[in-house]
Amino acid sequence: MADPTLDEIVAREAAHFLPVVNRLPVALVSGSGSRVRDVAGREYVDLTGGWGVTAIGHCHPALVEAISDQAGRLMQTTNLFYTVPQLDLIEKLAEITPEGITRSFLVSSGAEAVEGALKLAHRATGRRQFVATHGSFHGRTLGGLSVIGQARHRERYAAILPEQQFVPYGDLDATAAAVGEQTAAVIVEPVQGEGGVNVPPERYLPELREICDRAGALLIADEIQTGIGRTGRWLAVEHSGVTPDILTLGKGLGGGFPVAAFLCTEDVAKTVEPGDHGGTYAGNPLAAAAANAVLAVIEEEGLVERAAALGEELRGRMQGFAGANPGVVASIRGRGLLVGMELADAEIATSIPRRAIDAGVLVNVTAGNVVRLFPPLNIPEDDLWPALDTVFQLTRP
Ligand SMILES: Cc1ncc(COP(=O)(O)O)c(C=O)c1O
Repeated sequence: MADPTLDEIVAREAAHFLPVVNRLPVALVSGSGSRVRDVAGREYVDLTGGWGVTAIGHCHPALVEAISDQAGRLMQTTNLFYTVPQLDLIEKLAEITPEGITRSFLVSSGAEAVEGALKLAHRATGRRQFVATHGSFHGRTLGGLSVIGQARHRERYAAILPEQQFVPYGDLDATAAAVGEQTAAVIVEPVQGEGGVNVPPERYLPELREICDRAGALLIADEIQTGIGRTGRWLAVEHSGVTPDILTLGKGLGGGFPVAAFLCTEDVAKTVEPGDHGGTYAGNPLAAAAANAVLAVIEEEGLVERAAALGEELRGRMQGFAGANPGVVASIRGRGLLVGMELADAEIATSIPRRAIDAGVLVNVTAGNVVRLFPPLNIPEDDLWPALDTVFQLTRP
């Protein structure tokens, strides 16, 4: 049977979809590498990478095979039992994360990983206050929401959220003043993603580490968007040589399969006991098999190094465009293949995702006026550069 048309889908969905998000007028049916195809058979280059998720591209054959294979063996068990995919994954995570991060727990979404991280910090310190940063994003569950530094997300639910403290991202003085003996942890993204691809000053994470240590507070690095090779290192904290006490991963970890993790040091791990956390799908073997395949492909195809090199060239081309078109670009920011181009004109910026569709490109704009590119780490240059040229053209009305 043929797929319904876009118009049919829009009309039918209107009756049943809970309208908590806006949609763009595209209905996707398939993807391969950095391209996706819609119900009408039109192809798009996907510079959103499924929201920074499809690190190895859409439907990488190794990922499809690993999921199919595991699906035919064992899709679900409970955390009461051991499975080999989960064992392989937690061993691998200990290998690719900074030395000292030895323990992990697998969950299904980034928000869930953040919940686990906040709970861990409370268990390890006995404290209840968290310090977070303006512009941050940590997921839409109540715990995550309570530390999101964006009023538009938090305000609607403020009445049912625990009150946390917020400081400007990158501001060490403000952080030092906010962190005290009530602080369980500072939670921070090594590069803010949703907040506009904000890269902090070089000394930021090392000094945050010191501020936390002095106050007996923990440092939580939320690497859900920056981890798994995205910034040109396995983890973005590696750029500064800092080891957090607690770490969250998601998005690229499953390459499209919903899986995330929260991880910690031995010191933190020894403060928990059975019953502190759990979850029906925690450690799900299908999810773990998917993540194992993603990590293997990233390693085999050298995608961490590729993200570093390609990201540099991408920012270089953006600089070139900005130089040749004065007044269009306000700034260019990013690390590896998490890149933001802040436009001077917010109205043009917000119009770009919709106009890009007509030009065969999927692209995201965040924080009002920042065109954010977080494509697959293995996006072919033949796809990336023409799509980037399209984005450049769209920066003009
Ligand atoms: C840094 C960060 N933390 C947490 C989340 C929430 O992850 P999820 O949408 O998988 O719940 C996101 C999602 O964008 C994120 O970027």
